[in-house]
Amino acid sequence: PHATRIAPSILSADFARLGEEVRNVVSAGADWIHFDVMDNHYVPNLTIGPLVCEAIRPHVQVPIDVHLMVEPVDALVPMFAKAGANIISFHPEASRHVDRTLALIRDHGCHAGLVFNPATPLDYMDYVMDKLDVVLLMSVNPGFGGQSFLPSTLPKLRQARARIDKWRAETGHTIALEVDGGVKIDNIAEIHAAGADTFVAGSAIFGKPDYAGVIRDLRAQIAK
Ligand code: DX5
Ligand code: ZN
Repeated sequence: PHATRIAPSILSADFARLGEEVRNVVSAGADWIHFDVMDNHYVPNLTIGPLVCEAIRPHVQVPIDVHLMVEPVDALVPMFAKAGANIISFHPEASRHVDRTLALIRDHGCHAGLVFNPATPLDYMDYVMDKLDVVLLMSVNPGFGGQSFLPSTLPKLRQARARIDKWRAETGHTIALEVDGGVKIDNIAEIHAAGADTFVAGSAIFGKPDYAGVIRDLRAQIAK
């Protein structure tokens, strides 16, 4: 009954042709562009920052969904807001003051999200529901594309869905429930059934020549 979104992760795109890649994946039906920021500190890999966000911004109209895998977080928030990010999500372990960082993101005109690693308890949500627009559950350990979906994500998604639905019933406020890591055509249906509404897919989309074909097949699996 909720709207669903496909958010291709450009981590698996060809970085030498990034403008063309994001235009192509949006023409192919992407709802959001998922933008993975890694700092070789919070996670053992190094990717892209605000300059690259600013560079792709004029190429696409859809929301840019920035996933910060960095520590500390706060200094990057104004930089990504200025670079055209629409959603900024971070890992609670990486911020000393989670409530303050969420407020900072909204103060900069962006939607705010918290990201939960496979072993991070959902309890981090409880006292900040009013500051959340997105809850992002990692279904792999963060740092790399192309890993396998961890099945422990499914019961955790059901628990997150229950908390979000209860909050919506009490307040009328909608929080997106996004899943990131190992999402494929053959498992997206069960991930959707467990409560996710927003699906990050990196290697599943950018690993194939026909982006529109993959996005169509992903959508078909969650339309049933
Ligand atoms: C992993 C990143 C993911 C990654 C997903 O740390 O946050 O967004 O790109 O890639 P796939 O879909 O290949 O697992
Ligand atoms: Zn991500």
